[in-house]
Amino acid sequence: MSPAAVVRGIGAWVPPRVVTNEELAAELDTSDEWIRSRTGIARRHIADPGTATSDLAVEAGGRALKSASVDAADCVIVATTTPDRICPATAPLVASRLGLGTAAAFDVGAVCTGFLYALAAGAGLVTAGTARSVLVLGADTFSSILDPRDRSTRAVFGDGAGGVVLSAGDAGEPGALGHFDLASDGTGSGLITVPSGGSRDPIRAASVGRADPYFRMEGKAVFRNAVERMAASSLRVAKDRGWSVAGIDLLVAHQANLRIMHAVADQMRLPRERCAVNVDRVGNTAAASIPLALVDAVEDGTLLPGHQVVLTAFGGGLTWGSCALRWPDLVPG
Ligand code: UT7
Repeated sequence: MSPAAVVRGIGAWVPPRVVTNEELAAELDTSDEWIRSRTGIARRHIADPGTATSDLAVEAGGRALKSASVDAADCVIVATTTPDRICPATAPLVASRLGLGTAAAFDVGAVCTGFLYALAAGAGLVTAGTARSVLVLGADTFSSILDPRDRSTRAVFGDGAGGVVLSAGDAGEPGALGHFDLASDGTGSGLITVPSGGSRDPIRAASVGRADPYFRMEGKAVFRNAVERMAASSLRVAKDRGWSVAGIDLLVAHQANLRIMHAVADQMRLPRERCAVNVDRVGNTAAASIPLALVDAVEDGTLLPGHQVVLTAFGGGLTWGSCALRWPDLVPG
């Protein structure tokens, strides 16, 4: 038997408030037609004021633990770009609110690739024997960092959380995580950024009016990079696993934009119908995107036990990565 980290449970959560394209169009110079045709998005969920990322993560984490039929984990990892506060990390708060005692807990910052980086870290901790059971969450309240006047980001992003429970098992069983492909290119760090509020440009009383505390994205350049990187990385992990493209049952890509997912599939020569899609209902939920798409795919019957699945993401950093696994028999919590 060769040891591996295995996915034992999955859960996700979105805040109840739905914001439609029409509602955005009433406030910004945009239209339902523009947003649908350029992104595939019809609506997104937005957290109410006062709701923070840990609130979403606790909801999703509780569901993932329930799905795994466990009430304990000795490590919690939260991938997020929108922590409750710059200091401390969000994961310890999530661990204690879930009743996980003194579990190890830390955040991962890889923007929209965060969930895959956190999944790789969690798998490594399990296979090294450092942790027995890891709750890996992706959670973001992107609405808290969007410029209310920026129609291109307001149209795209939504809030949400999702995650999985990992524990040790055999590399041959469904749910076993095999090779990860993870990469970055910091020369593109300016393409997706929150310019002010970090150590490079702290927000001080004197900088009010000049500082830019909002999320900024060079949409077109990001689009091009996202397609190339996700396609190449997905092909790499499929090949590592010994799968042909025809052998990929479902591609669960970061739900950034339907046009990006279709372009990735086209570049891989994978039929577009093999892409899991929920971007129409939740928009781009950053680190929460992949686990939310997995839960929706299980619930709508697109993702079945035994399916050969490739997970792939691209985001700020720039960062990107992929992972291939055979889907286990799980009921989302
Ligand atoms: O999650 C991390 C990774 N993120 C991504 O992968 C996102 C990648 N980028 C995208 O999905 C797309 O670039 C966007 C959806 C963000 C933008 O779509 P686009 O087709 O690339 O549009 P664009 O930014 O090139 O803008 C084209 C035009 C511009 O107007 P002008 O300058 O041509 O007059 C924009 O101002 O569309 C305008 N525009 C809008 N118009 C109506 C941008 N956003 C909107 C909007 N409604 N919401």
